[in-house]
Amino acid sequence: MDSIWKRIVKKDASSDLTNRIKKAKESGIPHHVAIIMDGNGRWAKKRSLPRIAGHHEGMKVVKKITKFASKLGVSSLTLYAFSTENWKRPKSEVEFLMKLPEEFLGTFLPELIEENVRVEMIGEKETLPAHTKRAIDRAMEETKGNTGLVLNFALNYGSRAEILKAVQHVLEDVESGILPKELTEEIFSKYLMTSTMPDPDLLIRTSGEIRLSNFMLWQSAYSELWFTDVLWPDFKEEHFLEALEVYQKRVRRYGGV
Ligand code: FPP
Repeated sequence: MDSIWKRIVKKDASSDLTNRIKKAKESGIPHHVAIIMDGNGRWAKKRSLPRIAGHHEGMKVVKKITKFASKLGVSSLTLYAFSTENWKRPKSEVEFLMKLPEEFLGTFLPELIEENVRVEMIGEKETLPAHTKRAIDRAMEETKGNTGLVLNFALNYGSRAEILKAVQHVLEDVESGILPKELTEEIFSKYLMTSTMPDPDLLIRTSGEIRLSNFMLWQSAYSELWFTDVLWPDFKEEHFLEALEVYQKRVRRYGGV
């Protein structure tokens, strides 16, 4: 294609995206979007690269989608970065994954601060390697006053473990008299790691897998689910927008009519 045509096609595509962004903003942006970022390994395999190359590329997509979600006005973005089951992976892969928060925040934290993003985490922080924990703690501390997008990393997170822990705390508080025996969904939610956040309105999973994999099982009871075959390292702003557009066409009835 001639370069002039290439430029025209590119310009058309970008104005189409601008129009779609404008329309999406007018149609109601979901407050909380949660993403199961899957397919890094397959992305790398297709290119005969080591799996860690896929994770590294995936980290770059985290930056891109965080900026885009912030621009769109999403209030919370939860990203499933490491599950309690992921410890079963080869040691070298686990070590690499545990270094990613440091690399990500080392290079991106100033931009997050500038964008008014607040970094949060759900999952077992205490059993993370010290360097990973340090990077997360620092980012949480330095962004705690920010009022824009909440970028919430699910790291060393498992939903069943989260629910069990909440049940244990509830029992302790009932026994010590802090909590009455009549438990409501609302009270129970306050014992979960997501106590300060709304439930996800939209839950996205990439790479063609159609399951929740122990992710936000309680919180996603009424979330709209959107699955795509796109592998996470190939996930672009257009895909995020597509998910939002599908979400905006859905009718949420919460069991009513
Ligand atoms: C699942 O893909 C992905 C993960 C277990 C890791 C996800 C992590 C990132 C996208 C980077 C996170 C970045 C930060 C800043 C924490 P998979 O490896 O299971 O892919 P496969 O199913 O194709 O093998």
